[in-house]
Amino acid sequence: MLKKEQNDLLTQTGPGTPMGELFRRYWLPALLSRELPEPDCPPVRLKLLSEPMVAFRDTQGRLGVIDEFCAHRGVSLWFGRNEEGGLRCPYHGWKYDVNGQCVDVPSEPAESGYCQRIKLKSYSLAERGGVVWIYMGPPELKPPLPEWEFATVPTSQSYISKRLQECNWLQAMEGGIDSSHVSFLHSGALNSDPLFKGAKGNQYNLNDYKPQFEVVPAEGGLLIGARRNAEDGQHYWRITPWVMPSFTMVPPRGDHPLHGHFWVPIDDHNNWAWSFDYHPTRELTATEVQAMDEGKGIHVRYVPGTFRPLKNKDNDYLVDRAAQKARTTYSGVEGIAMQDASLQESMGPIQDRTREHLVSTDNGIIMARQRLMKAARALVEKGEQPPGVGPQAQRIRSVAIVLPAGQPFNEAAADALRAEPGKKHASV
Ligand code: FES
Ligand SMILES: [Fe+2]
Repeated sequence: MLKKEQNDLLTQTGPGTPMGELFRRYWLPALLSRELPEPDCPPVRLKLLSEPMVAFRDTQGRLGVIDEFCAHRGVSLWFGRNEEGGLRCPYHGWKYDVNGQCVDVPSEPAESGYCQRIKLKSYSLAERGGVVWIYMGPPELKPPLPEWEFATVPTSQSYISKRLQECNWLQAMEGGIDSSHVSFLHSGALNSDPLFKGAKGNQYNLNDYKPQFEVVPAEGGLLIGARRNAEDGQHYWRITPWVMPSFTMVPPRGDHPLHGHFWVPIDDHNNWAWSFDYHPTRELTATEVQAMDEGKGIHVRYVPGTFRPLKNKDNDYLVDRAAQKARTTYSGVEGIAMQDASLQESMGPIQDRTREHLVSTDNGIIMARQRLMKAARALVEKGEQPPGVGPQAQRIRSVAIVLPAGQPFNEAAADALRAEPGKKHASV
């Protein structure tokens, strides 16, 4: 349970809020590269951390993200003409380059130098692994480019999607940390979803509904270990890394790809749930890619032309009570991602954590909140650079592994937890 001030601190990420300042110190996924497919393509609206922006790719292919609204009289530049090295407002023709610098005010004489005095807010973008990343913090503190393994393997080995989730980022991310719900909410999927089924580990999961959880600090975050019984007194460990501020990975199953999420606030009532799959040592098969396209695994199908899931709160996520009764799906909602999103959105736009009752399986959530609050306070009160901004914390993998009893899981699995190019992932 949190005090109201603590819940506000963790859930508010607009400009000037402590958690908002914390988010602004990290590279965050902003857009899929394919949303800006070519020079002079249509601009894209982008709202992150409650800041409305517009992103575009100019004639030379340079990426830019600038304030959504024209400095003249506030028209949305989403209507702009993307031409000849800049985005031109269609109202009176003011034009901006990728850095937000105004380069033309047609009504004023060029020699007046008027347009040089006009500049819109802009941020750094970088493209990596099919994702356009944004850094919204102080330019002099910009970290090295992100090195998450999903964004650095060849793109034929990865599949990345995003979906709109209509609730605060924190309750979405807490679902990524809380692996205890898998035995319930997702139990129907283990033996049916083509991206999970067939793994030996599934049997350990289904044979033991009361795993023991251990949480240990790691570079820039936590490792959440779920321990179940395996043969000969050994233990089956599913290890979920969380890295600040909002990166979580799901332990893999058999030779299926590794996967995970980034939870990025749009505003305090909405977030982008980024979902990635990748295999460290092989290309994804056509069958896997097709399954992901069809919304299997952690991906979804969309309302056409949007990133809003087809199953959403306006249609009660197409809940199927007969399937619920028959236990084909535990909640009646089909698909892992929407099983999670439906319940998280049902908490309301911002979960009221002054009324919750946490138990021992929520230790990962409790520790993650503590680390986030500590880092946000240290940043705004003492100017301390938060943990986990650099590549070191990003070279991490989730793990599903059988280990001998009696050893700390993070030590016994240390090698498997480290992402290294070309190294097979540890997954049973
Ligand atoms: S409002 Fe944009 S040019 Fe006038
Ligand atoms: Fe889940």
